[in-house]
Amino acid sequence: MDQDALKKQVAEAALRFVPEGEYIGVGTGSTANFFIDGLATMKDRIKGAVASSEATAERLKGHGITVVSLNDVDRLPVYVDGADEVNAHREMIKGGGGALTREKIVAAVADQFICIVDGSKQVKRLGKFPLPVEVLPMARSHVARKLVALGGQPQYREGFVTDNGNIILDVHNLDILNPIELEEKINNIVGVVTNGLFAKRPANVVLVGENGSVNQF
Ligand code: 5RP
Repeated sequence: MDQDALKKQVAEAALRFVPEGEYIGVGTGSTANFFIDGLATMKDRIKGAVASSEATAERLKGHGITVVSLNDVDRLPVYVDGADEVNAHREMIKGGGGALTREKIVAAVADQFICIVDGSKQVKRLGKFPLPVEVLPMARSHVARKLVALGGQPQYREGFVTDNGNIILDVHNLDILNPIELEEKINNIVGVVTNGLFAKRPANVVLVGENGSVNQF
């Protein structure tokens, strides 16, 4: 199976976690897109969805799925999203698609975070994938210097503006021994909006698409 087939397989496996008669949170990226396409086949069984990006909102609406703001729901039983890396503790690096801040907000509200990945995203230690950090534009150089002091090599994501009007620094070569500690440290740099470490709030369930099967942990 190629990577897209694995993403589709794992996305479809996540449909069984969708509760009837509720709003659900929906993530961003190519794996989440396969999930949205699958969700369309059961759209009459949910109230609607909260989107983690403008792109996801557009895709959901394109399928005739009702999209509501996060402020309009009291609770979200489930949030389904992909990841760039995930470790055995269900901690993740996310934000390859630049939607990390809204993803983290929706994940914070959800009771259950269902992470859907193909096998290539499973790692022993996080950090081979450059860590995305969303930054207010005026703080770019300041934050970059602080990230260098933490041992990383930040790279400005050229030509990219987040849905929130900010920029992304992709941080290479970070030694992520303690993901929770590093997530907090980077979030404490003035000018940082969010970073792509999802360790303080890891996934509850990880589904991994392998050749012909979906594993869960
Ligand atoms: C977007 C994300 C995505 O979940 C992550 O980049 C994985 O994307 P894909 O499913 O396309 O591999 O965090 O901000």
